[in-house]
Amino acid sequence: MEKFSLATTVYSGNDSLSRLGLLKNETIFLVCDAFLPDTPALKRILSKIDGSNQVAVFANVKPDPPLETIVDGVKQYVPVAPTIVIGIGGGSAIDTAKGIRFFGDKLRQETIKKFIAIPTTSGTGSEVTQHCVLSDPENHRKYPIMENYLRPDEALLDPQLVMTAPKSVTAYSGLDVLTHSLESLVAVDANVLTDGLAEKGVDVITHDLVTCFKHGDDEAARKRVHEISCAAGMAFSNAGLGICHSLAHQLGANFHVPHGLANAMLLPYVVSYNAAHDKTACAKYAQATRKAGLAANGMGDRVAVRRLISHIHQMMVQMDCPQTLQAFGVDLKVAVEMTETVVVNAKLDATFPGNPVVPTDEDLAKIYQQIIK
Ligand SMILES: NC(=O)c1ccc[n+]([C@@H]2O[C@H](COP(=O)([O-])OP(=O)(O)OC[C@H]3O[C@@H](n4cnc5c(N)ncnc54)[C@H](O)[C@@H]3O)[C@@H](O)[C@H]2O)c1
Ligand SMILES: [Fe+2]
Repeated sequence: MEKFSLATTVYSGNDSLSRLGLLKNETIFLVCDAFLPDTPALKRILSKIDGSNQVAVFANVKPDPPLETIVDGVKQYVPVAPTIVIGIGGGSAIDTAKGIRFFGDKLRQETIKKFIAIPTTSGTGSEVTQHCVLSDPENHRKYPIMENYLRPDEALLDPQLVMTAPKSVTAYSGLDVLTHSLESLVAVDANVLTDGLAEKGVDVITHDLVTCFKHGDDEAARKRVHEISCAAGMAFSNAGLGICHSLAHQLGANFHVPHGLANAMLLPYVVSYNAAHDKTACAKYAQATRKAGLAANGMGDRVAVRRLISHIHQMMVQMDCPQTLQAFGVDLKVAVEMTETVVVNAKLDATFPGNPVVPTDEDLAKIYQQIIK
């Protein structure tokens, strides 16, 4: 049986924040990204919230949310006894809001009326997913929690909010969208519904992401990429992900490589590996590449997949992305020494079972070694 579920109502456009004006007499716990306090963006968001509401702001958000931050947030959350939670920011801020809500509601044995997510990066899709990725820095681990209960009730996509993102954040988070699209396309629970979203993700990102990187104020391109980021979130939250994310989580946990960049470094090698070992995966990658206009209609699957892989490398060059751990600044010896830990923990990652091919330890090590040069 195929399954596709959507729990989030998505509002997109410059007027999407007006939804906040509907909240009256509520107790709001607002988790906002650390870049937001004192910005016109946050002032604009707060100005939409009616004065009849009480608002408690938590802005101690850190990238790759550490468990310590969640504990800190829960201590503030429980006595506030919120009826509404709003998470505003990049994936880290939205996941922080999810984590605080998850543990906070368990502790107080009560739940909120509504969770609203307002993304300021076009990347993780966290505004529609049941995922929340937390870090344990002491043990160098990242833990994705997956609970249907974590899916936001509303996602407000305002393209203006992503325009302040630094170029590197635009590039890395956009390449995360490409990874969500390509992994969900071939994942074990993929179906026609998720395929449609994933193929469109490949199309939009390969055409519009470099424009967003070069011309951050191109509102039409920003809106398309913001919406497709959300759509790719819908795709992977139903179809699953794969070993690109399983390995990327290890690069984040051990070397602090930003999530989207870690995925992008590994993506060409994971696509190549899956295409070589699974005919269906190869055909699906090739079809998405043709539909995006990156390969001619009559072109064979393997050649089309090679086009896709070289296009990913090319986008990374155009957006100044380091393509190896050394180029990112990781010491070669340290990276080599970590191979076994990376492989062992990648196999334990919650995204691992979604991959269309079950890799051996040696296969995973070989993929990892491709980005150590
Ligand atoms: N929950 C999910 O479904 C899911 C899926 C994939 C990844 N993730 C997780 O999400 C996190 C990555 O999220 P991300 O890629 O959005 O990056 P991020 O949230 O870590 O943000 C990166 C940096 O950009 C800043 N920033 C964000 N938006 C900005 C803006 N508009 N203007 C200026 N600065 C801005 C942030 O303050 C931060 O310093 C990782 O922890 C990853 O594991 C979650
Ligand atoms: Fe991701």
